[in-house]
Order: sequence, then structure tokens, then C-alpha cells
Amino acid sequence: MEKKKPIKRPLGGRGPISNGPMHTRPLVALLDGRDCSVEMPILKDVATVAFCDAQSTQEIHEKVLNEAVGALMWHTITLTKDDLEKFKALRIIVRIGSGVDNVDIKAAGELGVAVCNVPGYGVEEVADATLCLILNLYRRTYWLANMVREGKKFQGPEQIREAASGCARIRGDTLGIVGLGRIGTAVALRAKAFGFSVIFYDPYLPDGIEKSLGLTRVYTLQDLLFQSDCVSLHCTLNEHNHHLINEYTIKQMRPGAFLVNTARGGLVDENALAAALKDGRIRAAALDVQENEPYNNMTGPLKDAPNLIVTPHAAWYSDASCTELREMAASEIRRAIVGRIPDSLRNCVNKEYFISSGYGESMNGASGGYNFNPMGVPHSTTLEPMPAGPPGQPALTTTPHATPHSTLQEAVNHMTPKPESSEVH
Ligand SMILES: NC(=O)c1ccc[n+]([C@@H]2O[C@H](COP(=O)([O-])OP(=O)(O)OC[C@H]3O[C@@H](n4cnc5c(N)ncnc54)[C@H](O)[C@@H]3O)[C@@H](O)[C@H]2O)c1
Repeated sequence: MEKKKPIKRPLGGRGPISNGPMHTRPLVALLDGRDCSVEMPILKDVATVAFCDAQSTQEIHEKVLNEAVGALMWHTITLTKDDLEKFKALRIIVRIGSGVDNVDIKAAGELGVAVCNVPGYGVEEVADATLCLILNLYRRTYWLANMVREGKKFQGPEQIREAASGCARIRGDTLGIVGLGRIGTAVALRAKAFGFSVIFYDPYLPDGIEKSLGLTRVYTLQDLLFQSDCVSLHCTLNEHNHHLINEYTIKQMRPGAFLVNTARGGLVDENALAAALKDGRIRAAALDVQENEPYNNMTGPLKDAPNLIVTPHAAWYSDASCTELREMAASEIRRAIVGRIPDSLRNCVNKEYFISSGYGESMNGASGGYNFNPMGVPHSTTLEPMPAGPPGQPALTTTPHATPHSTLQEAVNHMTPKPESSEVH
């Protein structure tokens, strides 16, 4: 890929990271959360870790904006170009999750900030959750269970038939997968076991993938929508596919088809979906992700849409996947500190903005810290850890004038896990 035009970074701002004996250890901040109990053991010998618990950069403490070299973030904060420019020392952002649609990756690259994600941690969970939603739409389990919970008694087959009307047989139906990446593939393999005939649309994959997986490939979205009894979305959200499912494309779906979205809310025009559910054009839908999260059942276009299951962007979550995710994210930050950017990083999504030094070169900062390329080109970078400061001396202190959400404190002092409801992937 063609290298991006080099940018020149001012020395006082995005210049070398000072790591000499007179300086504190690199500062790493969790931007939109408080609980660093998993991250601390991985980072504490190489960095000072702080949390911000912020929903926007206005809530992030100045010290983090000025000094943080590493940032960890969930999905509850967005970093636009303007936001990124507020960080004066940032070298690496790690999304605790796989989607990077809430970070302007291009702007980050131009500013010399590597952006990484953790793509593989929850593939099985999301695929299982997707199947769970598909099965609920076909078998209406969610609605039937709700009727029982509300006290309805089923006297015989007539009442079952009435209550379970719309339940459908899976075997022989066609499941259409949009985006056959990690999760789409895992869904396809599971769906086959239930008897679905699986087709997929993914214009970015090479020919032959359909043969290795025993699936049917279609080459237009229109074909997929036309042939599918159930459509399941698994593509990444990008500037080309916002509202991929809209009033127009819904008309290309089979009348009475099902729709499942566990990918990203922005892929579906919720006004169009609400209208299609109301007139039965779409028989039922299940959304783990919504256009505006957290989802509010009392407002928005879907509030009185029938035959809809909404879950709170939780498909990724299991106790095991969450721990694995956080460990992987912290380990990526650690690799940036003790190794080189981008060579040591496992999942850098904007690598093209950096010049790799090649894997033959030492990954362990033998070059002595951040090397400013004479041409001013964003390049392979080493963030070296400092030895720990004097015992008992905190590297960060709380300022008395912190904004309400900007509780900049050493995370090590706040290891009590809090409910993770806001920590959506
Ligand atoms: N609900 C959750 O908790 C949760 C958890 C993890 C990931 N996700 C989301 O799931 C989705 C899939 O994740 P993944 O790890 O499998 O990603 P992936 O990158 O492995 O796969 C995405 C696939 O989508 C394809 N694609 C992109 N644009 C497309 C388009 N317009 N039409 C068809 N295909 C297109 C790509 O070629 C790629 O093969 C992402 O949107 C991700 O953000 C959701």
C-alpha cells in the first residue's frame, strides 16, 4: 500500500517521549471506564495507569490530554480528529473490542497515533448470540416465555397455535450472511448444523472462500436479500455501508423475512425497519446493536415496533471473553511500551501510516526510546518504561479542580470492579 504523506510533529507536542531518569513512567489512561483490575497486573511494572471514566474528551483531565502516551477505550467514547488533536503525547490507542468505528483512524494515523483493536476475543460469543437470536425469531421462544411469565395458560393445541403463530421451520430455509469475516463465518458454520442453506455476500473476499467453507456466494446485496428467508448482518460499519438496510433495500427482501443485526447499529435505518415491522414486510427482527446506544425503549423509531427483540450490545460478553478481551488490550499497550510501534503490535489497524523497521530488528528498545526520524516521518517507535518511582510516591494526583467525570487517579487504588453495564464492546 502506498505510504501516506509524512507529517511533521512539533517536538513539544507529539515529539519524542521523555523517558530519561528525570521522568515518570509512561502514562496510560483508560478513557471511558473505571475498572482497571485486569489491566493493572499487565501494565503496572511498565506504566502508570489512570482511569478517566469519561463520555467525551471534554471530561478528560488535562494531565491525561497532555501526557498520556497510551489510551485504552471501550465503545462509549468517540474520538474524532478534533478530539485526537487534544492529546499532546499520545502514541497508541487500543480499542477494547473489535469495532474501530468510534475512532477516526485516518486522523490518528496522520497525527502519528497507532490505533489497535482486539478482533478475535469474542467471535464464538457473538456467533452463539446471533444463533440464539435467529432461533428466537424462528421458534418465538422469547415471546412464548413472556406470555407464560405474564400468567397466560395454554389449555391445548388451539391456544398453542394461536400463541405460537409465526413459528417457522428452519430446515431448508436460506440464511443470508452479509459480511463473511470472523463472526460471519462462525455463524455460517453453526447455521449449517441447524439445517439452514447458507448464502453470503462479501465483496471484499477472494474467490474460492465459498468452496472451502461449503457455502453459496452471491455477488450483490440485492441477490442476497432476494434469496434469504433470514438476513444476518456481520460486516464492519464503514463510510460505504451506513444504512445498508433501508427503505429501498428492505423492499428487496423476501416478504415476511427475518432480520438480525449483531454487527453495528448504523447498518440499519431504524425508521425503515420500524415501518417494515409494522406492516409485516419484515416478520420479526432482533437487534443487539442500535443506532443510538444505550438503547432507550421509550423513545426512538422502534419504540412501538412489533415482533422485535432488542438486546443491549451484549453479544460479545461472557465472563471468559471479557477477561480475555481486557488482557489482550492491555497486552497490546504493553507491547507498544516495551517493544516498537508498529512492529511489536499485533493488531494495528492504521499501520500504513508508520514505517516498519522490519521484524529482524530488535523489538526491545535497544535504540533508546523514541527515535525521531530526521524526515519527520511517523515511524517505528519505542516507548521505554522507567523504573518505578520512589515507594509511596504517586505518579499521578487528583487535582482539586477536576471536572465532574474526570477522576484522574491511579487505577491501582481503585481495583474494586464496578458493574460493567456501561462497558459495551
Ligand atoms: N455485538 C457485539 O457485541 C459485537 C462484538 C464483536 C464484533 N461486533 C461487530 O461484528 C461485525 C463483524 O466483526 P468481525 O470481527 O467478524 O469483523 P471482520 O472484519 O472479521 O469481518 C467483517 C467482514 O465484513 C465484510 N464487509 C465489509 N463491508 C461490507 C459490505 N458493505 N458488505 C458485505 N460485506 C462487507 C469484510 O470484507 C469482512 O470480511 C463488526 O461490525 C463488529 O463491529 C459486534
